[in-house]
Amino acid sequence: MATLGLIGSGNIGGTLARLAVNAGLDVVLSNSRGPQTLGDLVAELGPHARAATPAQAAEAGDWVVVTVPLKNYLQIPAAPLAGRTVLDTNNYYAGRDGRIPSLDAQQTTSSELLQQHLAGAQVVKAFNNIYFGHLLALARPTGAADRSALPIAGDDPVAKDQARILLDALGFDAVDAGPLAEGRRFQPDTPAYGLPYLADPTRPFNEDPGKPVDAAAIRAALSAAQRPAAG
Ligand SMILES: NC(=O)c1ccc[n+]([C@@H]2O[C@H](COP(=O)([O-])OP(=O)(O)OC[C@H]3O[C@@H](n4cnc5c(N)ncnc54)[C@H](OP(=O)(O)O)[C@@H]3O)[C@@H](O)[C@H]2O)c1
Repeated sequence: MATLGLIGSGNIGGTLARLAVNAGLDVVLSNSRGPQTLGDLVAELGPHARAATPAQAAEAGDWVVVTVPLKNYLQIPAAPLAGRTVLDTNNYYAGRDGRIPSLDAQQTTSSELLQQHLAGAQVVKAFNNIYFGHLLALARPTGAADRSALPIAGDDPVAKDQARILLDALGFDAVDAGPLAEGRRFQPDTPAYGLPYLADPTRPFNEDPGKPVDAAAIRAALSAAQRPAAG
C-alpha cells in the first residue's frame, strides 16, 4: 500500500491525512513536538495512520507533504527527502512568518525557497490555495460531475505526475500552472487563492460549505494573475 508522509499535522496536514486514509493510503504523521502529541489524531484516523518524527515521515512517504508555517521551513530535514516528491502547501504571511525580503520583493516564491532548502527533492506546490475545511468538503471520486480542481506547479515533470496521482486519489483534478516559479499565480492575494471555492463570499470561511470549482475556472483564475512588476 502506498504511504503519504506528513511533515506538519495541523489544519491542512490533518485534513490531508483524513482524505488519504479514506482513499486507502497509509499515513505517517509528524509535527514539531513529537509523535507522542499526535495520539488523538492517530486514534481518530485508525489503523492506517501512525505518528513518527519528521525524518521518519519523510523516509516512509511515497509522497511527502510539507505543511508547516513558512517561518519554519529551514527546520525541515533535507537529507531524508532527497530524491522524493515533496508537496508544498506553505504560504507566506509576513504577520505570522516575519518579513522575508526576497518574497516581499517578489524575487522568488515560497516554494522556490523550500526547493532551495530541499535541493535533492522535487518540490511541487499544491494544496496551498484552498481552505482546509473546503479541502475536506470538496473531495470527490474520479469522474464525479462536481469534482474540483487544484493548481500545481513544479520543475520536475515526473514529480508533477506523482502529485497528480496523489490529488486524484484524494479527490481532486490537477491543473498544471507550469514551473515552480509560476506558483506565484496561486499564492495569497491572487484570483485562484481561496475565494474560488467559497460558496458565499459574505460568510466567513469556517462557516462556508465550499463550492466545487472545475479545471476551466482554475485555468482562468491562473491566467488572470498579475505578473510581478519588473525591477
Ligand atoms: N489553514 C488552511 O486552511 C491553509 C490552507 C492552505 C495552505 N495553508 C498553509 O499550510 C501551512 C500549514 O497550515 P495549517 O493551517 O495546517 O497550520 P497549523 O494548523 O498551524 O499546523 C502546522 C503544523 O506544522 C507543524 N510544525 C511546525 N513547525 C514544524 C517543524 N519545524 N517540523 C515539523 N512540523 C512542524 C505543527 O506542529 P506543532 O503543533 O507540534 O508545532 C503543526 O502540526 C501554512 O504554511 C499555511 O499558510 C493553510
